[in-house]
Amino acid sequence: MEAQIDGLISQLSLDEKIKLIHAQSKFTSAGVDRLGIPELHLSDGPHGVREEIDWDDWASAGWTNDSVTAFPALSCLAATFNPDLAFHYGQALAEEARYRNKDVILGPGVNIYRSPLNGRNFEYMGEDPFLASQMAVPYIRGVQSMGVAACVKHFALNNQEQWRNNVNVEVSDRALHEIYLPAFKASVEEAGVWSIMGAYNQYRGQHCCHNERLLKQILKEDWAFDGAVISDWGGTHSTLEAALNGLDLEMGTGTDGLSTNRKNAYDDYFLAKPLLEKIEQGSIEVEILNDKVQRILRLMLRTSLKENRPRGRMNNPEHLDLAEKVATEGIVLLKNEDSFLPIDPNTELTIAIIGENATRQMTLGGGSSALKAKHEISPLEGIKAQFPKANILHSVGYASGPSIWGRTEDSKLNADSLRKEALTLAGQADIVLFIGGLNKSYQQDCEGGDRLSYHLPFKQDDLISEIAAINKNTALLLVSGNAVAMPWLHKVKALLQVWYLGSQTGPAIGAILSGEVNPSGKLPFTIAKELSDNGAHSSGPLSYPGIKFEQNYLEDILVGYRWHDTKTILPQFPFGYGLSYTDFHLNTIVPATKTLQAGDSLAFQVALSNTGKTTGATVVQVYIGKAESAVPRALKELKAFKKIELKAGEKQNLLFKLPVQDWAYYDQDINNWKLEPGTYTVYVGFSSAISPSFQVDLIVPND
Ligand code: GLC
Repeated sequence: MEAQIDGLISQLSLDEKIKLIHAQSKFTSAGVDRLGIPELHLSDGPHGVREEIDWDDWASAGWTNDSVTAFPALSCLAATFNPDLAFHYGQALAEEARYRNKDVILGPGVNIYRSPLNGRNFEYMGEDPFLASQMAVPYIRGVQSMGVAACVKHFALNNQEQWRNNVNVEVSDRALHEIYLPAFKASVEEAGVWSIMGAYNQYRGQHCCHNERLLKQILKEDWAFDGAVISDWGGTHSTLEAALNGLDLEMGTGTDGLSTNRKNAYDDYFLAKPLLEKIEQGSIEVEILNDKVQRILRLMLRTSLKENRPRGRMNNPEHLDLAEKVATEGIVLLKNEDSFLPIDPNTELTIAIIGENATRQMTLGGGSSALKAKHEISPLEGIKAQFPKANILHSVGYASGPSIWGRTEDSKLNADSLRKEALTLAGQADIVLFIGGLNKSYQQDCEGGDRLSYHLPFKQDDLISEIAAINKNTALLLVSGNAVAMPWLHKVKALLQVWYLGSQTGPAIGAILSGEVNPSGKLPFTIAKELSDNGAHSSGPLSYPGIKFEQNYLEDILVGYRWHDTKTILPQFPFGYGLSYTDFHLNTIVPATKTLQAGDSLAFQVALSNTGKTTGATVVQVYIGKAESAVPRALKELKAFKKIELKAGEKQNLLFKLPVQDWAYYDQDINNWKLEPGTYTVYVGFSSAISPSFQVDLIVPND
């Protein structure tokens, strides 16, 4: 491949090289007809292939053959704790991308869930860097197995939507390397990701799309990334920085192509004419340009120029089945008092389905990850199909109005009449299923804005309490990509976190409610009781959302359960938590050797048994902590997990092998990882809220 690249570069003119490193339309960059180099086609997004967008602006192209499979949002994929599923997800997504002739799919998003207000957490993989890494790597391998490039995003520290284009993030090197970079590093070093997207925000005073420390030093030198750095759309702000600090492909800069009445405003991009002039003047070396062109050509040789790429397919039954499997494996059962769930599929009871999210189309909204789904079966439709003999009543209960990216139009419906209708149905029903939550409209799990409150919007909290007061057999299905306050929790019999599930929403929810599928999802983030219990929201406005665009992640490494554990703040529901319709018991078999050397792996077994009445799956999680340390540490950190399905009564031994190198902390004094000798505590269980299992001693020879 390198010889091909060098051969092509030697034939390219300066003009042709410049055309390769910036957009020629909203979602394509140029090829070189003369040499048979095709243009590069990029597309959102992480959950499915976005509808065709106009050549020169953000409007829909209005095609009639670009409806796709909408896979569940990545927060749901993370909740499956199933890396194999992540591979198949990526592969199926790329099959649809191939069918739509897309060479780069703009995902996965792996920014860490730091604040539950962040508008895009639904697109990401939770609060823990190990989980995000373990799920992103197979997803990327799946995408790229089809000759489509993944584009892991947004590099880096894009952990909120508030002021996303300008906020200047300050964070310690330790937190940067231990929390915010691992998923990106794994994407590069383990998955071999072919492209990465720079984030909009600044880090230490430089925009991430051309940040010297992130792109040149860490990504391209330390991690030896050989792919292409693509700007977020409109994330480029300087020719000099973009040229010298490692940006390879400029996309989406302000000029809207033909809208400026010039021949083609793409020539005005920072990496277009302005760069050409600097090279011609000799103020920027042509080698700088050649390195970018090499990376773009390498990206093309892996995708658009690659021969015999697998063919694509779209909306096929296998993709819908996969979307449903991810959905059913990601749904988290958080409460199930008196085994309220599952509900007998042959029930003839009257079931009131209340809440706007029972029927709202969720694949729309959310921003750039929005999809034109060929199928989107709603929860109401799914429940009707799953319980054919039940008497299903339905009321929207509350209304939020149509969601259009950037604003929510006030509902024209009369809220009080909807409330009264809902309460009437609640009184008539044997069971109430309230299906509410957020809805991917502006400031409700949507790009471009954060939530303004930790509570559910549109007075849902009050409505849920009123319904539960009328009907004690009330269960809640929470459609969201973020944690919310739960003042009604003690009043409802059951609670399911059901995410944004995509095309197969209804069938997946029906399968879980009826017990056709036993829930096995685990929370990829902590659900705090109050917003102020969250680490990012415990140190004033400088920590979140920042003050006058300056922000400092003051909780440092203590993100999510790391904060709750170490500050002993009891969460509503802990990271890694999720119930099942069956019961599991585990017995950790303490290893004989409890003294390890650097370079070893800790190996031990866990005897897991399904002591309940139905087949089910669970996730055995292993956390490591070090009480005595030279540096402040989280009480425990996730270092391994295994998902396993067992029949009722079945037992199985699971073998864990944990490389002790993974227990190192990032030492800011030496700018490198440091493995501390001493005693480590091993925690084994079904969530992060567990007590120690055993201890081991690690001997590390003096450096
Ligand atoms: C958006 C998003 C990014 C998306 C890109 C193209 O602003 O930040 O995730 O891929 O622009 O739509």
